[in-house]
Amino acid sequence: MDTLEVTTKQSTTDFLPLNGTDYVELYVGNAKQAAHFYKTAFGFQSLAYAGPETGLKDRSSYVLVQNKMRLVLTSPLHSDSPIAEHHKKHGDGVKVLALWVDDAYDAFEQTTKRGGKPYMQPTTLTDAHGEVRMSGIHTYGEVVHLFIERKNYNGVFMPGFKAWKSEYNPEPTGLLYVDHCVGNVGWNQMNPWVNFYENVMGFKNILSFDDKDISTEYSALMSKVMSNGNGYVKFPINEPAEGKKKSQVEEYLEFYEGEGTQHIAIATKDIVSTVRQLMARGVEFLKVPSTYYDDLLDRVGPIEEDIEPLKELGILVDRDDEGYLLQLFTKPVEDRPTMFYEIIQRKGAKSFGKGNFKALFEAIEREQELRGNL
Ligand code: FE2
Repeated sequence: MDTLEVTTKQSTTDFLPLNGTDYVELYVGNAKQAAHFYKTAFGFQSLAYAGPETGLKDRSSYVLVQNKMRLVLTSPLHSDSPIAEHHKKHGDGVKVLALWVDDAYDAFEQTTKRGGKPYMQPTTLTDAHGEVRMSGIHTYGEVVHLFIERKNYNGVFMPGFKAWKSEYNPEPTGLLYVDHCVGNVGWNQMNPWVNFYENVMGFKNILSFDDKDISTEYSALMSKVMSNGNGYVKFPINEPAEGKKKSQVEEYLEFYEGEGTQHIAIATKDIVSTVRQLMARGVEFLKVPSTYYDDLLDRVGPIEEDIEPLKELGILVDRDDEGYLLQLFTKPVEDRPTMFYEIIQRKGAKSFGKGNFKALFEAIEREQELRGNL
């Protein structure tokens, strides 16, 4: 499945048809250096830039691309800016989960009349390459959804940005597109946000995990997966659950100082190759004990991959009714134990690796313990 492929038939009841994720924007402390990290470590390519040289007074933004995933990294240029406030409070983190639509004005109308809180009134940006229409609403924490309509635009990213040509172009690592983006919300806030995605965005709850599914000896969380009509956009929502010790969601909420995006899952067609390259470039991943592989085939049945490279790289496998998936999670990519990435290869499975939760959360707890936060 390709999240950015334009769908040809939409359900007649889908009032917010989405073509996929348009981009993810992080507010970071030093976008110039972060861009270097995402190029060097993850293999993103330079695409576009906006900043003082293009007439922006308050920020610099670097747009990176790898196949169909676009990442925007933005830093403030002065302390008296909302971007600086955001960064002071949260550290590096996701500000915008932008969604690709055919009509940004209608997306705003449809969502705000259902209770969505406006963030950006419908706006048309134009330059010599055409026009981009956009609008936006708030979601959990300080995260926003922008609706981006680019059918009449053939520039490099959007008006206001110039092409970013670089002499430094590390090879891509096989990352393809955003598979899903997970939000961490506060105690008892999962269901209100599930309702938001159902009522305001027209999403459906396709999977639920309670604290029995997702618990270790020490900590627990609950999660519901929200999907749009064509399944191209999926937002699982986590909330902490009571355990003997502090759960990973609580640790996130404490260090992010509020609700926010926990991880972005990026698809690959060859997880062994992708993870091998990422590791060689210094990306750090969570490790499960090697005993995880002892009875792997008993748990998940036959798979096409050799076990040895999976074991060597620590790649996890899970199966559902429709197939299986391979996945692996990075450690947080900033000093605060907040946002991280998932690398995922789907072989039929549409689920999220429930069978791996226990091994994974025990791995996270070992990291929490090292940080003194368990
Ligand atoms: Fe995930």
